[in-house]
Amino acid sequence: MLKYLGSKRRLVPALAAAATATGARTAADLFTGTTRVAQAFKKTGMRVVAGDSASYSQVLAECFIATDSEAIDASLLAEEIARLNQLPGAAGYVTEVFCQKSQFFQPQNGEKIDAIRDVIEDYRGTWIFPLLLTSLLQAADRVDSTTGLQMAYLKEWAPRSYRPLDLRIPDLLPGPGASLPGDVTRTVATIGPIDLAYLDPPYNQHRYESNYHIWETLVRWDAPEHYGRACKRVDLRESSGRSPFNHKKTFAPALGQLIEGLQADVVMLSYNDESWVSAQDLTRMLRDNGLREVQAIGFESTRYIGSRIGIHNPQGQKVGSVRRTKNIEWLFIAGDRNSVRAATAATESFGGQVLEIAK
Ligand SMILES: C[S@@+](CC[C@H](N)C(=O)[O-])C[C@H]1O[C@@H](n2cnc3c(N)ncnc32)[C@H](O)[C@@H]1O
Repeated sequence: MLKYLGSKRRLVPALAAAATATGARTAADLFTGTTRVAQAFKKTGMRVVAGDSASYSQVLAECFIATDSEAIDASLLAEEIARLNQLPGAAGYVTEVFCQKSQFFQPQNGEKIDAIRDVIEDYRGTWIFPLLLTSLLQAADRVDSTTGLQMAYLKEWAPRSYRPLDLRIPDLLPGPGASLPGDVTRTVATIGPIDLAYLDPPYNQHRYESNYHIWETLVRWDAPEHYGRACKRVDLRESSGRSPFNHKKTFAPALGQLIEGLQADVVMLSYNDESWVSAQDLTRMLRDNGLREVQAIGFESTRYIGSRIGIHNPQGQKVGSVRRTKNIEWLFIAGDRNSVRAATAATESFGGQVLEIAK
């Protein structure tokens, strides 16, 4: 599974248990990112819709959520992946920009990515396109030279970057599902009634498409103008099209409107104790939108890797450390009393602790 900031890797079992305990048969994961949570819901037998505004997340959602593993030609997929793995490298945009102008991949892997991505383009619009592209994204992620964000690459090549690029068959899931591409402030109106909605909005001003600009380019395949040492996309620097969830001022009103626009019996919302909105305000927001019972649960979590490594000057010397290395991941569960109680109890065995929120 891809390296992704804010991914709910550790919380996935707790989220799946909570969702199952509510008895939900249908669910929407509306900031789906890697699709991890949506996949966990789908594995329990729920019919899931997964949405996100990032192009790469849409591809992942089409692959893991919208594709039914039992309804595809698995041998054709295996053959195509084997064929792509055999292609000789051919230097193109990725090699020039992400191997020569910057150092995200070793050139031999960059050349392979260029050659494979060009061939995948021929399949755009067919069922196999998101599956092959997901396989390429995952393969590229396994040999990149970053700490998990594409805002910078490592000064020395990461050991994994020396491994040859190797496409594998994605772990597809059986059953129906759907992807919901686009900005959730617009797409929410198209969802209709559902049992459960899971919301995991961004926690700060950093735009995900920019943090993961290489995946964005691998999906769009548009050879964009770039800037800076990390060769980020110029078009993502512009303020138009920015998410209201990436701004302190617009975050709370956007979240309030989103919750209001949902027709969900239960809403589960992830947030943390370092961000813009207090637990009291989030609780109030959920209650104001007709969800009678709201419970906040806390999970202790280790902060991002930079906080553990410390602060370094440009010469690589450690010049300070970050004050907090742990934070609390909040999970709000809102809905009718029975569902909220059952879901809350289900999180306990995964380290969930009930939080008392002052009114
Ligand atoms: C904290 S991450 C979600 C991580 C995800 N739960 C996981 O485990 O991989 C937040 C996600 O919100 C998406 N996002 C930000 N603004 C959005 C918007 N207005 N509409 C839809 N998705 C948005 C980002 O692209 C990002 O993938």
